[in-house]
Amino acid sequence: MCGIVACVGYREVTPVLLNGLKRLEYRGYDSAGIAVRTADGTIAIRKSEGKLSKLVNQLNGSAPRGTLGMGHTRWATHGAPNDVNAHPHTDESGRVVVIHNGIIENYAELRLELKARGHVFQSQTDTEIFAHLVEEEFEKRGGEGAVNLLDAVRASLKRVRGAYSFVVMDARVPDLLIGARHFSPLIVGIGEGENLLASDIPALLEHTRRALVIEDGEVVALTSDVVRIYTLDGGSVEREPFEVTWDVTLAEKGGFATFFTKEIYEQPAALANALRGRVEPQRVALPELAGIDFDRVDRVHIVACGTSYHAGLAGKLALERWARVPVNVEVASEYRYASPVVNERTLMVLITQSGETADTLACFRLARERGAQTLALTNVVGSSITRGADAVIYLNVGPEIGVVATKTYTAQVALLELVALDWAIRRETVGEIKHELLQSFVRLPDLVQAIIGSDHQTEQLAKQVNRYRSAFFFGRGFGYVAALEGALKLKEVSYLHAEAYAAGELKHGPIAMLDPEIPVIAIATQSATLDKVVSNMQEVRARRAPVIAVATDGDTFIAEHADDVIYIPYAPEHLTPILAVVPLQLLSYHVAALRGCDIDQPRNLAKSVTVE
Ligand code: G6P
Repeated sequence: MCGIVACVGYREVTPVLLNGLKRLEYRGYDSAGIAVRTADGTIAIRKSEGKLSKLVNQLNGSAPRGTLGMGHTRWATHGAPNDVNAHPHTDESGRVVVIHNGIIENYAELRLELKARGHVFQSQTDTEIFAHLVEEEFEKRGGEGAVNLLDAVRASLKRVRGAYSFVVMDARVPDLLIGARHFSPLIVGIGEGENLLASDIPALLEHTRRALVIEDGEVVALTSDVVRIYTLDGGSVEREPFEVTWDVTLAEKGGFATFFTKEIYEQPAALANALRGRVEPQRVALPELAGIDFDRVDRVHIVACGTSYHAGLAGKLALERWARVPVNVEVASEYRYASPVVNERTLMVLITQSGETADTLACFRLARERGAQTLALTNVVGSSITRGADAVIYLNVGPEIGVVATKTYTAQVALLELVALDWAIRRETVGEIKHELLQSFVRLPDLVQAIIGSDHQTEQLAKQVNRYRSAFFFGRGFGYVAALEGALKLKEVSYLHAEAYAAGELKHGPIAMLDPEIPVIAIATQSATLDKVVSNMQEVRARRAPVIAVATDGDTFIAEHADDVIYIPYAPEHLTPILAVVPLQLLSYHVAALRGCDIDQPRNLAKSVTVE
């Protein structure tokens, strides 16, 4: 995820861009950059790795002056987060300038093609190819005029596959910005004598409250006083602007009260991004795994902390069930001091959304010292865990700002399960079921969307849960993973005491705690062990503890054994650690909101724990 902002008008554009970027920094802060068309008809570019503040300091006293410009804050995907890879990018003449949010999937082939025609690249980004493509197309059309530039952009867009919002300008066309969108957001701000483009409304609000949303497959041309929207084929599109009524602070969170809720609601799109290009009809496409010699592996150690550890538990179930390899899952802070048997035949899978958790990094070093192979799953490009790992799988879900993990967790589970399936396909340990399994990941974003659409179920239940002093969660197999993560969410954001148990363990101690004041949340979705979960629910009800079941749509039978039921769509069992957790994230949010907690920054927690 990146933030983009651009303006064409009458006033000095640099402050407009920097203020806009400040509002978009939540989208990424690996680097920041601006491009301004100056009075002498050339483009001035200033960019810097790191946060926006670094760029602002650099500009102090030497900001480029002009009335047409664009700015970008980056969350790196292709190429390390450094000065060279920071946007904006240009072709070799420096005349065509581009910023981009998204991923160009066919960039490697386009880059080769452009190189063969003599283009020279400066960065490792996928974005830069677009500047070269536009430059070629514009030259073919004579290299002048707004109409030709627009045609050149349209022709170039037809060459790229993937997700994008682009902004393009050219030194030779002084009063024109062109934007295009396919999957990544792009909003037009309509001002007086100036018009703007941005990834999100907050970047516009200081200048105008009149906005237009650009839809997928559209191209927009802006001058200081005209905005025109087109289809890719050149047809014109009419759309009425709307008036933004949000408060700026809320708008920074895209209209959500907290980043936590925003990130819960983002999960369908985040999962779609995480899975994009990675699931094919016959196989899993994870080229990142090329660095692992699977034939050398006779055991897997999954090592992680907190929520990432829960994702690891789901990974173990999938790896053992499908690929038939033995797996241990360990909390990183324990593993490193427990004399683990780790050698060159071990594959250590390190899960860390931040890529910086100290205990996980220590286990990573241990693995490398002992000659084990290492596979890292992280959301942060260039983070410590990625350096020296044999393979790195990026979650690609965009920055997670809420301290408590949501979308990174669901993506971790999905991607670990894809690794398991990939391995199982290589080992031929899954038969025809592989098609059904592959298909389940294709449907996953829609299933999560359906759950988010019925948030009212959890909002009502939260009022009840809020009355209690403690809550228990239980489940079996994949449902146990969901119980663990559900309990962790509730305690992290609402500070309500919550514990999770394997359902069968309840009667070995914890049942002594149960009474009418302790609700038990049972993960009772369709599975091979549902009957046993139902028996455990009956044991709980016999102790007069209220039962809330998370169950599968259409299971009317379950309501006879529970006081309340949260229904989620039917899906194969391995998706339970994702699908059953989404309503529990929402439940935690509503309970925390009723309690007035600081949901985005819960007390005593930190997003990235870099100390032991
Ligand atoms: C902190 C965060 C948790 C996270 C854990 C592990 O405690 O608050 O949300 O699960 O660290 O973080 P990692 O970046 O290694 O996944």
